[in-house]
Amino acid sequence: MLPVVALITCLINAIVISGSPPIVLWHGMGDSCCNPLSLGSLIKFIKTQLPDSYILSLRIGSNIVEDTSNGFFMNANHQIDYACKLLNADTNLSQGYHAIGFSQGGQFLRAVAQRCPSPPMLNLISVGGQHQGVFGFPRCPGDNETICNYIRDLLHLGAYESFVQNHLVQAEYWHDPHKENTYRQASIFLADINQERTFNEAYKTNLLKIRNLILVKFLRDGMVTPSESEHFGFYEENNTTKIIPLRESSLYLKDLLGLKTMDEQSRIKFLESDTDHLQFTDQWFIDNIIPYLKD
Ligand SMILES: *[C@@H]1O[C@H](CO)[C@@H](O)[C@H](O)[C@H]1NC(C)=O
Ligand SMILES: *[C@@H]1O[C@H](CO)[C@@H](O)[C@H](O)[C@H]1NC(C)=O
Ligand SMILES: *[C@@H]1O[C@H](CO)[C@@H](O)[C@H](O)[C@H]1NC(C)=O
Ligand SMILES: *[C@@H]1O[C@H](CO)[C@@H](O)[C@H](O)[C@H]1NC(C)=O
Repeated sequence: MLPVVALITCLINAIVISGSPPIVLWHGMGDSCCNPLSLGSLIKFIKTQLPDSYILSLRIGSNIVEDTSNGFFMNANHQIDYACKLLNADTNLSQGYHAIGFSQGGQFLRAVAQRCPSPPMLNLISVGGQHQGVFGFPRCPGDNETICNYIRDLLHLGAYESFVQNHLVQAEYWHDPHKENTYRQASIFLADINQERTFNEAYKTNLLKIRNLILVKFLRDGMVTPSESEHFGFYEENNTTKIIPLRESSLYLKDLLGLKTMDEQSRIKFLESDTDHLQFTDQWFIDNIIPYLKD
């Protein structure tokens, strides 16, 4: 018996020593990688729970001001390329990492999983991400009214005009249920990652490589319309009083992203927080998210 015990002890030690996998964060709109009031304090909090974990909070740009502004104005496809380069360059991630995206960072990290399979993403945790896009911003985050008014004006002018598409991130996941055809043709980001224009086999193959897709929806979300988009639900075409949930959507039924396959293997977790957008409590995070970061 003794050698077996020794072997097990040795294995346990190896696991403890190697620690939990690295964690990559991507902030939301109006925020930055390192804001002490948001992701900065979350990083500290995660370290109280997982003291040895390596955490990379993605900064899109060379400083915090650029990072914040890029969240509004840098073409989302270029942001994904930028993030993929950062992930590739970080040798600490080569054995794999867990990804947590906040708000639009949720759909951005899904695009990373679909386009950049290396280094390997393990669990993808989307906290309030808008996987079927938005049709309205009841509240603009951040405290810059100039930027918020500018965004509303641009979306009003025409979210699907090519100038707006190329220069406003939020237009790139604007989903107008009254203009499904226009959206499919013109959306340079969301319609592409959701396989609505052409079918990209690699997107499905790559997304299927992750272990679990954890989708967090905020039950009192005052920022995202419709909040069901956080669970991949969206309005029925031409009807904003009816929501088609993921399992009834053609994306799922045709298994274009492997979501049906993953769901049948219980690899999609539909979580909820009974709060406003991103306003989860520490205890909720400990109970619901930390378990997915441990191994
Ligand atoms: C990798 O992680 C170690 C330990 O946390 C850290 O000292 C080092 O700077 C990290 N390397 C990179 C490229 O960030
Ligand atoms: C808001 O953003 C604009 C454009 O980037 C900038 O010129 C202005 O100083 C900002 N205002 C505040 C209050 O930060
Ligand atoms: C939705 O409305 C548009 C514009 O009126 C129309 O072209 C389209 O056929 C409608 N779609 C459905 C499924 O009713
Ligand atoms: C929109 O959906 C609602 C709720 O399912 C339904 O009662 C209504 O008839 C639909 N409207 C149209 C125009 O299809």
